[in-house]
Amino acid sequence: MTAANPVKITVTGAAGNIAYSLLWRIANGDVYGKDQPVELALLEIESALDGAKGVAMELLDSAFPLVRKITVTADPKEAFDGTKAAFLVGAMPRTKGMERADLLNANAKIFTEQGRAINDYAARDVRVLVVGNPANTNALIAANNAPDLNPSQFNGMMRLDHNRALAQLAGKTGHNTDEFTRFVVWGNHSASQFPDVAFAEVDGRPVADLIDDRWYAEDFIPTVANRGAEIIEVRGKSSAASAASAAVDHMHDWIHGSDGQWRTAAIPSDGSYGIDEGLIAGLPTIAKDGTWEIVHGLELTEAQKERIEASVQELRDERAAVADLLK
Ligand code: NAD
Ligand code: LMR
Repeated sequence: MTAANPVKITVTGAAGNIAYSLLWRIANGDVYGKDQPVELALLEIESALDGAKGVAMELLDSAFPLVRKITVTADPKEAFDGTKAAFLVGAMPRTKGMERADLLNANAKIFTEQGRAINDYAARDVRVLVVGNPANTNALIAANNAPDLNPSQFNGMMRLDHNRALAQLAGKTGHNTDEFTRFVVWGNHSASQFPDVAFAEVDGRPVADLIDDRWYAEDFIPTVANRGAEIIEVRGKSSAASAASAAVDHMHDWIHGSDGQWRTAAIPSDGSYGIDEGLIAGLPTIAKDGTWEIVHGLELTEAQKERIEASVQELRDERAAVADLLK
């Protein structure tokens, strides 16, 4: 029996693939904790409302003790009213042969509307995690359309890239994923991202000592950066359960902290590391006291700067492409 008042959590795209994993993890207490009851708001477009209703029925049938209320709606006001955590998943996924930026036209407007609704109705300390692609720029659009909130309340999801990289490093070195520290994926959730092991350590040893340069440049970086496309190629649809898992990891750490450990979060840049202030970019961060703090003071080599700049340039180009949706 738990005593606390329920906290409202909104998931958009509730009839979709990612939501079908994500909602069960949230309902299980994996985001706010096992003592925190939750109220779930499922937002869908009208044409997919029946699908979302079916998901709600199954959630109910799972008899999670923490779930106090489930709402299914196509009305953003109702979905975001008083919400403390919003997972903005609802958006078109790419298919074989597409880049995520190709989705900008189709998806950008969703985040204008939802940014506004969050601005007007969500709890003032709401945390918003944008999963729908292209996630960084969609998060920028949502934040720009929520002028009464702090842009830092809007994140893009790059935790999946982070987790993918840890899994590759674990496979290569024989260490467990949780043994790696000081690892980051810089830039955009796209093929230009830079999974960077320069600062990474395992057991107090530099990871760079355990891997060779060729594997790092020719295998590791492209494997991590193109993993989304590889999943689509092999599975026939874009990643879903791993994306949901990463979304839970991100929101959990944002709320509870990361115990001083680095995580990759796509958050508004403060201008550090040559990344334009305000762009939502993957950065080395530590979650503390409910916010992400950028790890400052890292010395970058020219090679690191070049890779970061290439990804940041893509973020600038995406921002320019949606300039009419930014205030
Ligand atoms: P999906 O097509 O299975 O589900 C998307 C759902 O969103 C659909 O049910 C659709 O009706 C709904 N939707 C569309 N517009 C909406 C709106 N305005 N409001 C509410 N719901 C809306 O897709 P999916 O596999 O769940 O993926 C969702 C998004 O997440 C895609 O853009 C995908 O590319 C992205 N994604 C991002 C990451 C990441 O790491 N950032 C990882 C995986 C997938
Ligand atoms: C992923 O990284 O798996 C997602 O962004 C889906 C995609 O389009 O690659």
